[in-house]
Amino acid sequence: MRVIRSVRDLRRTLGRDRDEGRTIGFVPTMGALHPGHLSLLAAARRDNDVVVLSVFVNPMQFGPSEDFAAYPRDEAGDLAAAQAAGVDVVFLPATEEMYPHDGGAVVHVGRLGTILEGASRPGHFDGVATVVAKLMNMVSPDRLYLGQKDAQQVAVVKAMIEDLSFGVDVVVCPTVREPDGLALSSRNAYLSDGERQRAAALWRALQSGRRAAESGGAPDVVEKAMKTVVEEEGVVLDYARVVDPVSFASPSGSGPLLLLIAARVGPTRLIDNLLISR
Ligand code: PAF
Repeated sequence: MRVIRSVRDLRRTLGRDRDEGRTIGFVPTMGALHPGHLSLLAAARRDNDVVVLSVFVNPMQFGPSEDFAAYPRDEAGDLAAAQAAGVDVVFLPATEEMYPHDGGAVVHVGRLGTILEGASRPGHFDGVATVVAKLMNMVSPDRLYLGQKDAQQVAVVKAMIEDLSFGVDVVVCPTVREPDGLALSSRNAYLSDGERQRAAALWRALQSGRRAAESGGAPDVVEKAMKTVVEEEGVVLDYARVVDPVSFASPSGSGPLLLLIAARVGPTRLIDNLLISR
C-alpha cells in the first residue's frame, strides 16, 4: 500500500497504473474509518484493479460554528484499516496541498445545494462539490464510491459529474447500520450513552414513515409519522421530508420516494434516509 501526500506523486503513481490499462476505483473520505467506509472500499476492491482512498477533513464543507476542529482524526487507525481492506493507494493531503490559493476557484451548486441539508448548513455542498471535483481531477478514477447515508451529497455529486462532464461512474453503496438501526457515522463518536440510545429514534422514525407511505399516506402524513416518533424521544427535529430521490423536489406520481430526516441528539446533528420503491 502506497501512502501519498502530494498531488504530484499521486498523479505520477496513478498515471503508471492508467498507462498499463488498470481501472481505478476511488473512495473519498474524511477518515475516522468505520464499517460504512469499509463497505465502500470492499465494493471498490471488487470492481477495480486499483483502489484509491483519500482521507482529508475538508475545511471548506464546515460552517464557522460547526465541528471542523473536533472532527475525529485517526491517521494510524485509518492506515491500518486501509491496509486490511486491500487499498492500493492512500492519499493524505495537507490543507495547503488541496487549497493552494486563498480565495481561489470553487464549484458552486445550484438549488440542490441550498435546500434541506444545504439550508441548515449554508455553503456545505459548495465545499463538498469543490473538494470532490478537485479529488476527481487528481485521481481520474473510473468509478467513484459514495454511501447512500448521505443521500443529498450523492445527488449533488451525481449532478455535478453530469453538469461538469466528468465521465466517472458513481457507485452508491447501502447504508451500514448498528443492530438497533442507527446509521454508522463518524459523528456517532460524539454521542454519550444516553444520546446513543435516543439516536436510534431516527431509524424508528424512518420505519414509521415507511409504514405510512406503504399504506398510501400522502407526503404530509408520512412526514407527520416521522416527526411524531423523534419528538417522543426528546430528539430535536431539524426536518422530516419526503422527496423525489433524484430532483429532491416534492414527489409526484408513482415513482420511488426518499424519506429524509435530520435531528439533533444533544449537541450532535445526525442525518438518515430511507429509499422506498413504489
Ligand atoms: O462524505 C464525506 O466523508 C465527505 O463529504 C467527502 C465526500 C469525503 C468530501 O469531503
